[in-house]
Amino acid sequence: MTDSNGLVRRVARMSEAFDRLSKGHRSGEDIALLDEYQRSGQWLKDYEADEAGLIPAGVNRSVLSQDGLYNLLQDLGHETIDAPARMTALVTGASRGIGLAIARELADVGYNLALVARSADALQAAKDELCNAHPGIRVATIAADLAQESSYSKIVDETVREFGGVDLLVNCAGAAQQGSFTDVSPQQWDAIFAVNAKAPFFICKQALPYLEKSPKPIIINIASVVGFKGYIHQSVYASSKHALTGFTKVLAKEVQPLGIRVHLISPGGVATEMVKQMRPDIAPDELLQPEEIAEIVRFLVTKKGRGTIDQFYLRRFNSLAFD
Ligand SMILES: NC(=O)c1ccc[n+]([C@@H]2O[C@H](COP(=O)([O-])OP(=O)(O)OC[C@H]3O[C@@H](n4cnc5c(N)ncnc54)[C@H](OP(=O)(O)O)[C@@H]3O)[C@@H](O)[C@H]2O)c1
Repeated sequence: MTDSNGLVRRVARMSEAFDRLSKGHRSGEDIALLDEYQRSGQWLKDYEADEAGLIPAGVNRSVLSQDGLYNLLQDLGHETIDAPARMTALVTGASRGIGLAIARELADVGYNLALVARSADALQAAKDELCNAHPGIRVATIAADLAQESSYSKIVDETVREFGGVDLLVNCAGAAQQGSFTDVSPQQWDAIFAVNAKAPFFICKQALPYLEKSPKPIIINIASVVGFKGYIHQSVYASSKHALTGFTKVLAKEVQPLGIRVHLISPGGVATEMVKQMRPDIAPDELLQPEEIAEIVRFLVTKKGRGTIDQFYLRRFNSLAFD
């Protein structure tokens, strides 16, 4: 429940301090108040409350803008203020395909990025590209095999060491396997489940204490259309994506009281390395593009207002509607 009285009182107090300082009435108390407001990220929660229409007219909205606050404090020569704090996104499977497309979109939004995959070279290439295109952001690469349990803490710890926290977690890394269920070995089953179901589960657990501290905490899990359907010869892949889908539904409920938003994206066939192996029957020009999934991620992290979307199912244009 929003403490609407507390919210309105706080914003009014910040607005008055902002107005006094803007008019040249310099006060150490007002500066300290707004400094803390900016650093804590509380302004962002209040900004969202304003978008939802919870703040009455008469408030100076500049106090609900990071640039407004930062510029005012800078103009006053307040030296201890940090540069506007960027959010941090941890993206697994970011070396190619959908994960790389998501990283590009998040870099454009302005997130600092921690990129995870096994291939250190591919991650470095992604980092070079993103830093060239967006000089204002910082990018860390973390080469890790998500089939190893030790990677869960490694990737979260390295992200926090580099950026101080985690605001957005995108579990995108995935592995697939094609063939009759009668040909699947227990080792193959374990290998697919380790990356698609077990790793996202435990990375969420590992990242939770940091997400709890974020002013805008979000988890996005990339499942698949086979997270709710069953395609022939995709038994292990479909089972693992059903597991991820099921976990995401429970996770969303368990972290909802903490203010953490959880989204599930379930794409149909996307033009990446994976689909060549899984769906060679689909003509390339009929596939979704990785950028279409990234576009949904951008929408989810920049969406205003308080309405929440639990899941997206994006199907290929010529697959059967509402099937
Ligand atoms: N393509 C589709 O049609 C489609 C449809 C629905 C859902 N999805 C899902 O979308 C996600 C991305 O798939 P994609 O199509 O972009 O596949 P992709 O091109 O094969 O990329 C997979 C990504 O996951 C990483 N990865 C794989 N195994 C890993 C491991 N053991 N440890 C760490 N990272 C690992 C890969 O990097 P390294 O190889 O360097 O480790 C790569 O960055 C997956 O979860 C997939 O199931 C894909």
